[in-house]
This record gives sequence, structure tokens and C-alpha cells, in this order.
Amino acid sequence: MSDKSKSLAKAEDAEHDYSAGLAVIAPDAVKDPGMEPHRVRMTDKSEAHEKRAARQVAALFLFSIVSSAFALYAYFAFPIVEGSNASVRDNTLLLGLGAAFGMLAIGIGAVHWAKTLMPDAEVSEARHQTRGSEETRARAIEIIDLANKESGFSRRKLIRRSLYGALAFFPLPGILVFADLGPNPEDSLKHTMWKKGTRLTRDPDGKPIKASDVTIGSVFHVIPEGLAELEHHKLEEKAKAAVLLVRVDPTILKESAERKDWSYDGIVAYSKICTHVGCPVALYEQQTHHLLCPCHQSTFDLTDACKVIFGPASRPLPQLPIAVDAEGYLVAQDDFNEPVGPSFWERSVNE
Ligand code: FES
Repeated sequence: MSDKSKSLAKAEDAEHDYSAGLAVIAPDAVKDPGMEPHRVRMTDKSEAHEKRAARQVAALFLFSIVSSAFALYAYFAFPIVEGSNASVRDNTLLLGLGAAFGMLAIGIGAVHWAKTLMPDAEVSEARHQTRGSEETRARAIEIIDLANKESGFSRRKLIRRSLYGALAFFPLPGILVFADLGPNPEDSLKHTMWKKGTRLTRDPDGKPIKASDVTIGSVFHVIPEGLAELEHHKLEEKAKAAVLLVRVDPTILKESAERKDWSYDGIVAYSKICTHVGCPVALYEQQTHHLLCPCHQSTFDLTDACKVIFGPASRPLPQLPIAVDAEGYLVAQDDFNEPVGPSFWERSVNE
């Protein structure tokens, strides 16, 4: 047997010497490889290299200053404009890039400085003994043995094996939870059940609403006709199509020319899904005509196209254009004027 094989065999024997309940590592199993030969850096050999490294470090710090200044400039030069998703994108992108390069350049400069210009002495320090005393180790093994005996972990095969099975199976429901994130919603986020002629009905009983039922100051929680009868995806459709219907004095409505005929004699219908993160906007302040989202207090002005007047929401609540049919029931003229709920990845600026 060669010296190396003998040494390995000896180490193996020693590692499996459990007679005292301890694993003992043979002292010569792993040899200390010692320090690598010291390589003198170019910056220590040549003044020109040293000066160049110093200039590089300074250049990185200057680049950091320029990047941070650019971030400040971008914040003011590309402001966030209300209603413009492109402005949010430009502002956050440029501000983020400036700040990121500002920090990155400081980091790289500091590392370059340390590696090329700071003292290059190699130091080795002996580690203190980390191994516990023989008594401590023996006591630890005693405690583990005792726990094993008392719990019956080794002895009770049935429990042990069923536990292994339970541990192997319990992550599986998580896979289903992830699978439930699909399928791809495609453009279903942009459309709801509302279409031309769909009657507005009460939530939850699905009773159609006549314009004459809606008195000034009253609020109706509304779902589209036919939703209550849906057999599949009822909740998903409701989560998109829920509407708040309110009647106010028509003279206080500030309606743009485009929206002039979207309301009916002071009756307006808006999506109930908050444009912040999608909570139901369910509180109507009769005196101020504000709609409030209870989650983070976004507040929308019902008289002014449900624009955001307070809180974290960034877009007005989408409006459902309504009319009255021949029997006096309220009906939708079309789907919402824009996708409901929070912003999402595929929304273009004009949606
Ligand atoms: S979800 Fe409405 S304010 Fe946050």
C-alpha cells in the first residue's frame, strides 16, 4: 500500500472510531497547504502604475458624483405627470439608473483602491481551538441519545417512515398554489362582462335597477345582468365588473364633452375596484361626494370623473357609460372606458 493510501485508510478508520462516541480526525488527514508565494503588485513596483491606479480610483469616484447628479437632474427634468404612465416609467428608470451607478462606482472604486494601493501584506493568524472539550462532546452525544430513546425515533419505524413521507409530501400543495397563478390572462384583464345593453342589477340578487329607483344621494352596489347565473368564473367576473352607482344633482357634475352622455340625469356609474391595489371602494361621503377606499384611503372625486384627490392610487376610477332602455331600466352603453383595477404590466399609456 502506498503512503497516500495508508494515510487515507488511517484517516477513514479514525473517522469511524466511535468507541468513545466521538469522531476523531487523524492529525495528518489534511495537510496545511501554507501560504501561496507572494506576488508583488505592479503598483508596488512602478510609480507610473501606482499613479494610474490612483487616477482610476478617483475617476470612479468622480463618475459616482456625475451619476448621482444625473439622478437629481432626471428627477426634475422628467417629472411624473398625472395620468401618464410613460412619465412614471421615465422618471423611475432614469432616477434608478443614476442612483445605481452612483453607488456601484463608489463600490468598485473602493475595491480597486484596496486591491491596488493599500498595503499588500499577507497576514496569517492562528485560529483558536474551536472544538469543545471531551466532556462537553460526550455530554452532547448523551443528550442526543437520550432524546432518541425517549422519542422512540429509531425504534418506532412506522412513525419514522410516515414522518419521512409527510415531509416529502407537504411541499406538494405549494406546487398547486403556483399552478393556480395561471393560465395566462391574455387580454381578459382589459375587458369585463359589461357590453352595450347589459342591464345594471343589484348586488347580490341580480334585480334590474330602474333610473327612477335611484334617488339623489343613494348608492347602489351593482353587478351586470347575468352574472348571478354564471356557472363558472363568477367571482373573477364580479371582481372586474363590480360598480358603484350614485345619483347626484346633475349640475354639480364636471363632465368633459366626451363624457357628457355617459351619465343619466345625475346618475353615474364607476368601477368599484380601486386603482391602487384593487380593494373595493365602498365608502361614499354624501356631503363631499368623495368615494373612499378603506384599504389605504385613496379618495376619488365623484363629481369630477372620479379623479384621485388623495392617497396612493394613481388613476381615476374607470367610468361605465350608462343609459336608460325603453322600460326605464339602467343599461350599459359599453364596457368601461379603460381597464379596471390596478395598473398591470401590459397596459399601454393610452389605456
Ligand atoms: S387599494 Fe385602495 S387605496 Fe390601496
